[in-house]
Amino acid sequence: MKGVILAGGLGTRLFPLTKATNKHLLPVYDRCMVHYAIDNLLRAGIDHILIVTGGPHAGDFLRVLGTGKDLGIRHLEYGYQEGEGGIADALSIAEDFADGGPVTVVLGDNFTDSNLGPAVRSFTEGAHLFLKEVPDPRDCGVAVFDPRDPKRITAIEEKPEQPKSNYAVTGFYIYDSRAFDYVRRSEPSARGELEITTVNNFYIQDNLMTWSELDGLWLDCGSFDSLLEANRVVAASRQRGEARFLPAADGVPEP
Ligand code: DAU
Repeated sequence: MKGVILAGGLGTRLFPLTKATNKHLLPVYDRCMVHYAIDNLLRAGIDHILIVTGGPHAGDFLRVLGTGKDLGIRHLEYGYQEGEGGIADALSIAEDFADGGPVTVVLGDNFTDSNLGPAVRSFTEGAHLFLKEVPDPRDCGVAVFDPRDPKRITAIEEKPEQPKSNYAVTGFYIYDSRAFDYVRRSEPSARGELEITTVNNFYIQDNLMTWSELDGLWLDCGSFDSLLEANRVVAASRQRGEARFLPAADGVPEP
């Protein structure tokens, strides 16, 4: 399995910090946000990675990550997204890299200590979502379940005002190569973006979607408060002497 980290966009919610660099290079305690996304993939056994970025600070990634070898990445590629056409638009850049095979996709501002490995290893075809039960999922994609079969997702609603469940769609996904055809069939949303939720709904309509619940902590570091929270979590973990947020390349075992 290969991995794709989506790290484009302008990060406007984090202005003026993101006038200085790309959102995913901002610090989470003593490492950059993107380092944790890379470790999520490495700990799942994925060491062929594409980072899709864009915007005025795209070149900063080369300075920070280089070849990725010292992070434990066997093969690192970079893709460039022109404009901010949405998450599905950024994903479409990964088609050649995927080369017909499945990919685990991570939104670069998502932060977790959960282990994606079991789902990655058991994936065969279609798509797999990682959901998380949260008190208020209105800022997220939200799963709608079949009332007759509460484990079956019938749709994903993007940022609904009145969520039909408390299960947020996190920024971790596994897709087979159908994803790229589904992006081609997608129409821009009201905010002018190609939405990952549209792609997910194509999989659901074609009965090709599975899901599991993230078993650990989950944060989206796209706001000042959640970025601060991620910093606090890592700092507290280090103070307790834990290894869970240390670099995967240091040989830290799977959580
Ligand atoms: O965090 C999980 C949520 O992420 C999901 O629940 C939503 O369904 C999904 O749409 C997404 O919502 P956000 O509003 O949080 O997405 P955001 O615009 O913050 O983009 C998330 C990441 O995707 C961002 O860190 C970089 C990447 N991205 C985003 C856009 C719009 C790109 O690479 N290119 C883009 O054009």
